[in-house]
Amino acid sequence: MKAIVVTDQAAGTAGMKLAERPEPSPAINDVVVQVRASGFVPTELTWPSTWTDRRGQDRTPTIPGHELAGVVTALGYGTTGLSVGQRVFGLADWYRDGTLAEYIAIEARNLAPLPGDIDFTVGASLPISGLTAWQGLFVLGRLQAGQSVLAHGAAGAVGAMVAQLAHEAGAYVIGTGRAADRQKALDFGAQEFVDLDRDVLEDVGGVDLVFDVIGGDIGKRSARLIRAGGTLVSIVGPVEARPADGRAIDFVVESDRAQLGEIVERVRDGRLRTNIGNIASLDDAVAAFNPTKRVSGKTVIRVGS
Ligand SMILES: NC(=O)c1ccc[n+]([C@@H]2O[C@H](COP(=O)([O-])OP(=O)(O)OC[C@H]3O[C@@H](n4cnc5c(N)ncnc54)[C@H](OP(=O)(O)O)[C@@H]3O)[C@@H](O)[C@H]2O)c1
Repeated sequence: MKAIVVTDQAAGTAGMKLAERPEPSPAINDVVVQVRASGFVPTELTWPSTWTDRRGQDRTPTIPGHELAGVVTALGYGTTGLSVGQRVFGLADWYRDGTLAEYIAIEARNLAPLPGDIDFTVGASLPISGLTAWQGLFVLGRLQAGQSVLAHGAAGAVGAMVAQLAHEAGAYVIGTGRAADRQKALDFGAQEFVDLDRDVLEDVGGVDLVFDVIGGDIGKRSARLIRAGGTLVSIVGPVEARPADGRAIDFVVESDRAQLGEIVERVRDGRLRTNIGNIASLDDAVAAFNPTKRVSGKTVIRVGS
């Protein structure tokens, strides 16, 4: 099968290559999915799981990409809950070959049914950004209606989901990002926007929840904005400064079939819009992941016809 592979960690996205790889076979509780669309987060090329297995042994050449939408073509021993021919979408294991390929073997529990009226490219754009926002806001952040949320990078892949889901849940959303993204962030549900290059972040006053997708100095300054009893949720590693009187949480997203269902239902009925910046074919994927100009939103790869 055709797949994108990486072998050289230092090369970053420039080291991605289109190659022939053997088709995967399903292990216990797996399905094989014919991938129809794939999502990729560029930072995954810095994650240890892209380069080593769970024992720390080299696992290159690696197929990157962890989001997919496609059709089940085979079931592993003992697999239940999904059937051959079913449309699915979901989040692939960090330590196994990924979704930038024509086929993937993946645990069935990492997938959810993809309704027939949702395009595969939309399905593949949702798992990481949608689940990360859902888990950070509702599971770990315990967001309540009436609270305020500082959604950093609100025009980005995760931030756009955070802004929309928080807004729908009845929160007051302050989005941040670059000047060029102001309108996009407001369109995704932010009621106010902070241009991190020109505005003073501290002017937003106190907030109940910060969703940090940036870290560094922005993360540290954001911790000081959290009201008593509030929460700093970080998805960019351990927090460097904690709120004086609140919780700090950093986490890595996990797949969850029920949450994927909640997310896709919202896309179907228009409560949630995905944030796709570019769609390319598998043959053009390497060029798409090495853009010559800035792309706002996710790059999704269409696989097959
Ligand atoms: N822990 C987890 O489970 C998890 C899950 C998903 C993602 N992540 C991580 O979260 C981060 C964001 O992911 P994403 O997919 O949402 O990325 P993204 O689509 O690039 O969104 C990030 C947004 O924040 C903006 N931004 C970044 N730094 C900024 C700064 N200093 N000032 C103003 N705006 C800034 C970006 O603008 P520009 O494009 O102009 O920089 C972009 O609009 C990545 O590091 C990713 O690895 C972690």
